Amino acid sequence: KITPVLLAGGAGSRLWPVSRDQLPKQFQPLVGPYSTYQQTLKRVSSPALYRDPVVITNEDFRFFARRQAEDVGVDVLVALEPARRDSAAAMAAAAVIAEKRSPGGLVLALAADHVVLDDNLFSEAVRLGCKAALEGHLVVFGLTPSEPRTSYGYINPGAVFGDDDDLRLVEAFVEKPNAEKAVAYLEKGYLWNSGNFLFRSDVMIAELRAYAPEILDAVTASVEKGETDLGFLRFDKESFEASPKNSIDYAVIEKTRKIAVVRGHFPWSDIGSWDAIWEVSEKDDFGNAIEGEGLALNSEGCLIHSSGLMTTVVGAKDLVVVATKDAVLVAPKSRAQEVKGLVDRLKTTG
Ligand code: GDD
Ligand code: MG
Repeated sequence: KITPVLLAGGAGSRLWPVSRDQLPKQFQPLVGPYSTYQQTLKRVSSPALYRDPVVITNEDFRFFARRQAEDVGVDVLVALEPARRDSAAAMAAAAVIAEKRSPGGLVLALAADHVVLDDNLFSEAVRLGCKAALEGHLVVFGLTPSEPRTSYGYINPGAVFGDDDDLRLVEAFVEKPNAEKAVAYLEKGYLWNSGNFLFRSDVMIAELRAYAPEILDAVTASVEKGETDLGFLRFDKESFEASPKNSIDYAVIEKTRKIAVVRGHFPWSDIGSWDAIWEVSEKDDFGNAIEGEGLALNSEGCLIHSSGLMTTVVGAKDLVVVATKDAVLVAPKSRAQEVKGLVDRLKTTG
């Protein structure tokens, strides 16, 4: 059986004003009634394939992590980071905790802020990856890219592993290439990295030992000295803070030679911005997606996302309107990426 571990400690600023430092996007119901954290828990809740999930998140989010798991009826162990050290430290914690519970067992590390529209296809990809993971590979899940985005990792699939074309060894993994390289990779048939990883806990620990020993040592000490408090596993603060800050993609995945890829066929979005939310949301006949209290009259292609306020548009085309109790955003859908700059500006002007 596989131990699912959700990495749920990141923040997303392009979804302002809904995603905030105090309540990031993974805990918000952005697409449908459940948060992506809850959707991810449900995705890995089949007892035939998975054990109870472990959640690794920042201590600031502990009550969201527990309450929202209870709301979907999933038993979780919530482990708390006392500081932000990015995904490599979180992945090290995942591997160390899993190795203690079941030495050499399989771990599926999941991003908690993605939308996957077909959980069965996702499970199929995971099942296919098990063979390579059991044989000592770190398995990534690749997706056919639609454009040369620079915010993703790129995977060059190599020789077939076993008898299924969709499982291959990896020739190269490049995290967040520049635009020129991204264009070239698309032409060469590279895949996007979906940001989920399947591996044996002892193999991940060995690769961290080889490529990121400072992170592994700091996190191992921090987990060892950790304490259980009110049912949460709290890592030791001083040792955790000693870990360098890096993402798992740069720290290990780009460097390891023990790496295989499953080509996934599941519809996927990392809902990085409001236009991406519109893409995966249910729409009316005119392409308007409305979440919460809202109405679009004689309008097309709009996204209305409202928490509590009746939010309306008339005669609008391809607009994003987001209304929360203390802030409102209006932007053309095609310029939703620029919200990040807006947030930076708001931080400096107070
Ligand atoms: N617990 C914890 N602590 N989780 C974290 C932390 C942390 O300090 N930092 C990030 N995470 C979690 C995020 O919540 C998310 O679920 C996951 O780790 C990935 O982090 P991101 O910060 O969202 O990474 P990214 O989007 O820039 O890049 C990754 O995902 C892409 C696909 O969405 C990479 O894996 C790319 O290669 C990939 O293409
Ligand atoms: Mg991300």
